[in-house]
Amino acid sequence: MKYNSTRKDGGGGASFAVQCVDIKSFVASLAFLALFVAFWQLHPYGSLLTSARNSASPACSLLATTANIQSSQSTIATATTTSSSSSAAHSVPVRVERVARPADPNKRVLRPFGSAAALFVQFGAYRGGPRTFAVVGLASKPTHVFGTPYFKCEWVPNPTPGASSSPPRPVRTKAYKMLPDWGYGRVYTVVVVNCTFPTNPNADNAGGKLLVHAYYSTSSRRYERFVALEEAPGAYDASRYDPPFQYDYLYCGSSLYGNISASRMREWLAYHARFFGPRSHFVFHDAGGVSDEVRAALEPWVRAGRVTVQDIRAQVEYDGYYYNQFLVVNDCLHRYRHAANWTFFFDVDEYIYLPNRAHTLQEVLGKLQGYSQFTIEQNPMSSKLCLQDPAGNYSREWGFEKLVFRNSINKVRRDRKYAIQARNAYSAVHMSQNVKGRTTHKTEDLIRYYHYHNSINVMGEPCREFVPMPVNGSKIMFEGNPYVYDDSMKRLAGEIKAFEKETIGSART
Ligand SMILES: *[C@@H]1O[C@H](CO)[C@@H](O)[C@H](O)[C@H]1NC(C)=O
Ligand SMILES: *[C@@H]1O[C@H](CO)[C@@H](O)[C@H](O)[C@H]1NC(C)=O
Ligand SMILES: *[C@@H]1O[C@H](CO)[C@@H](O)[C@H](O)[C@H]1NC(C)=O
Ligand SMILES: *[C@@H]1O[C@H](CO)[C@@H](O)[C@H](O)[C@H]1NC(C)=O
Ligand SMILES: *[C@@H]1O[C@H](CO)[C@@H](O)[C@H](O)[C@H]1NC(C)=O
Repeated sequence: MKYNSTRKDGGGGASFAVQCVDIKSFVASLAFLALFVAFWQLHPYGSLLTSARNSASPACSLLATTANIQSSQSTIATATTTSSSSSAAHSVPVRVERVARPADPNKRVLRPFGSAAALFVQFGAYRGGPRTFAVVGLASKPTHVFGTPYFKCEWVPNPTPGASSSPPRPVRTKAYKMLPDWGYGRVYTVVVVNCTFPTNPNADNAGGKLLVHAYYSTSSRRYERFVALEEAPGAYDASRYDPPFQYDYLYCGSSLYGNISASRMREWLAYHARFFGPRSHFVFHDAGGVSDEVRAALEPWVRAGRVTVQDIRAQVEYDGYYYNQFLVVNDCLHRYRHAANWTFFFDVDEYIYLPNRAHTLQEVLGKLQGYSQFTIEQNPMSSKLCLQDPAGNYSREWGFEKLVFRNSINKVRRDRKYAIQARNAYSAVHMSQNVKGRTTHKTEDLIRYYHYHNSINVMGEPCREFVPMPVNGSKIMFEGNPYVYDDSMKRLAGEIKAFEKETIGSART
């Protein structure tokens, strides 16, 4: 664990407090030791202490991670002996056995083992402007269902160099929490904590720390306090939060998992690198899906500075929705909040497309500039149906070159993808519900996306069924759905292959 987490208990009894006391307040621990020993002798129930010996105190560790349990264990060691030896912890049980009075047989004990779900699991923390921050993480969903966890934020400034006067005082502010994927939450649900101060807490740029106080509920004063972010002296740069931004367009991908076709990945990237242009950047999140083959397909673009791959395999320990995809998109939103004019959220089996080729992407987005967010309508494609190819060389064609049949049912509601001006957004799911400004859905004539559902997970040849060219735009029935021939994407294949060769050609065999 990178950050020291300190534990506090406002309302619990003495036996809780010993385990929850701040490890740094050594003097307090000493004073406490005296109290603790006194309490020990007076306490009628040795069995209570037996549970403490197991170091799994209900107050502290019911919701704690393994790492936290270990840290509270070492706290016991400090509190019960003045030496720093960790074996000192074992002196506790010895004392327990010396308790003279017999245990009350009717006093029952609850002995927790293992850990359930943490109060808060931090994934990222970002400055989101001159006076605002976002801390992105996971939280135990049951704790939020049955309790009322809330947060406060604190800025602890670094001492001003050379100043002999007392160090600057910490500033506190209320935080508000967003639960963007609540309905999808599993053991864990995503929490975005928004800390907004009245003014820039680091205005003198001497640096400091953002601390979060995470409270278990409104009915107790128990909380966890941790450093979410540190700003080094001189690190604050106000110009970062105003346009122009580094990129025009940023792509935030969701979790990549399972078997992913390296060929489809290569094609997707070549297509979108060209579509979004040189002032764009792609962020992928590897939840186990980036095999050696996929990595090889991404690598030339990583070297060209067009792609970032984040290793998020550690998410496997936390049971959230689909490889924690909503954790990842919210993290990406805040990490790159001021990196680009527009941030796009869609998947690697989806291809953004401009139906009117007379307009460039910049022109299309110029028309949408007045909106903070727009959604994008889907062209659903078959991921199996291909054209009969007498030459038999379809296997050398790219996926979107040979998957040329579009489901022609228009009247159903389909998934929409979206793009936002991220600086106006506070959290994200399938669309951002927490956004300042307007959202439009009337974009179907401007921008759409082709969806080759699950084609990314098909290793090897996607074509499963071959049909002759339909005459006069007639429909073909396949798996109970009508399809029409649509070669809009196929017609771009030549340009995209040439673009790939020009851009990273030397890196490819
Ligand atoms: C936090 O919320 C405020 C609105 O209450 C907003 O202005 C600010 O941009 C948000 N900050 C982040 C980092 O999302
Ligand atoms: C991005 O925003 C800047 C500043 O608002 C603007 O000048 C630029 O044209 C925008 N870029 C695109 C591609 O829209
Ligand atoms: C990946 O493919 C292999 C071989 O085709 C298969 O055994 C394995 O179960 C697949 N893994 C996943 C996560 O789908
Ligand atoms: C298949 O190969 C032949 C001969 O090389 C070529 O003329 C033809 O254009 C190819 N067909 C496709 C669909 O690429
Ligand atoms: C296709 O349409 C054209 C003109 O509408 C017509 O002349 C032709 O007969 C049609 N072909 C078939 C096979 O239906």
